[in-house]
Amino acid sequence: MKRKILALLGSAALLTGALGSSVVAAQDLPPLATLPSPAIPADNPTTAEKVELGKKLFWDGRLSGNGAMGCVACHQPDLGWGTGGPISLGYPGTQHWRNSQTILNSAYYNKLFWEGSVTSLESQAPGAAGGAVAGNGDGSMMEMKLRFVPEYVAGFRQVFGTDWPHIAQAWQAIAAFQRTLVTDPAKVPFDRYLAGDETALTDAAKRGKELFEGKGGCLSCHNGALASDERYYNLGVPAAPEFGQDPLYQISLRWELYQKGVPEAVYRAGDDDLGLYHKTKRPDDKGKFRTPSLRELRWTDPYMHNGIFATLADVVDFYDGGGGEGNTVLKPLGLSQDEKADLAAFLEALSMDEPLLMDEPELPKTATWAEFLK
Ligand code: HEC
Ligand code: HEC
Repeated sequence: MKRKILALLGSAALLTGALGSSVVAAQDLPPLATLPSPAIPADNPTTAEKVELGKKLFWDGRLSGNGAMGCVACHQPDLGWGTGGPISLGYPGTQHWRNSQTILNSAYYNKLFWEGSVTSLESQAPGAAGGAVAGNGDGSMMEMKLRFVPEYVAGFRQVFGTDWPHIAQAWQAIAAFQRTLVTDPAKVPFDRYLAGDETALTDAAKRGKELFEGKGGCLSCHNGALASDERYYNLGVPAAPEFGQDPLYQISLRWELYQKGVPEAVYRAGDDDLGLYHKTKRPDDKGKFRTPSLRELRWTDPYMHNGIFATLADVVDFYDGGGGEGNTVLKPLGLSQDEKADLAAFLEALSMDEPLLMDEPELPKTATWAEFLK
């Protein structure tokens, strides 16, 4: 509760014009801090067996329509647990319409997706596995596929105590696995610095920290341990050029607008991702996206909801120029080249020294009917 009041105070400072001017009321904002262990929901306790099962399911294409679009297809460990390109690939024959977010630290968000449309990892997973531009799997078909894998039948029985795998349990196991994909503070220069190691940050990163909390105004939105206030803003991020060039992108955009029930006039004029508006239908929310965490940026390029910026230097240039067209929250910063480099150095220092990688699990086999009857 105290934290909530603090956040409100912070936004009051923001509304009264601190943002964009050279002074930000940083003392009113939750400071950057080391992440605690993620909260575990009471109805889905984490156990080692559940995490192990969830890891296999995360990799398993049987949790998709065509057997090949498991979660890992778009959340690849060596690509920062996302995809490499600006806008994610889609289910074969379709195109996704947004940048694939890293799932690192997704355990900490109260609202998931760029427009915050779901509120738990357990409820996010079925949407991903079933979504027409993502996994495109049918829930009961995916459940049947799991029931034909003897190792899963035994594994689910051990973890959940039921005779047969139920699809909702698969989402619980995947959520438990994702809660283990978090930043290890011991590996992050900034967290080591907070813990008292003065040498953990370079001089450039220390200067960048001052800019981040002061003249840059970054802390107004990127605050707390996650470096996100989980609010929504329209920064005027430029539209992805793909929408105007490739019919499949345009089809996805139209389809999303239609699915999300926007009024006809908006549908007809729609040539860009309208962000939070899709959820609320409030005109003021057009172009607003959830403030993302700034942890692990070294491993999770490209940046923004449409991956329009390839490097952190590009992002810093964007902020230095006062954001993009139509934004109502950012003002030009007037940073020197050195200051821009310092700010980028600080952003890098919020990442682990090494990316979080892991070996692919060996996936259990589907039984033939004869094996199944044994
Ligand atoms: C076809 C590509 C694709 C597949 C398959 C896919 N995802 Fe995603 N994922 C995305 C994209 C793109 C986003 C951002 C979507 C948005 O904001 O609308 C996303 C967002 C997420 C997020 C939200 C992260 C955040 O910061 O809010 C989580 C968690 C996630 N995916 C987990 C999963 C899981 C679990 C699966 C498998 C059940 C899965 N994804 C399958 C592309 C994919
Ligand atoms: C008014 C709130 C606000 C302020 C101030 C702000 N940001 Fe952001 N930041 C956001 C939002 C919202 C996004 C996502 C925008 C989108 O995708 O359309 C974002 C995205 C980013 C990203 C991309 C992260 C990713 O994973 O894609 C970086 C890096 C970033 N901001 C750094 C900064 C820095 C550095 C500053 C200060 C110079 C700053 N931000 C100031 C709200 C803010």
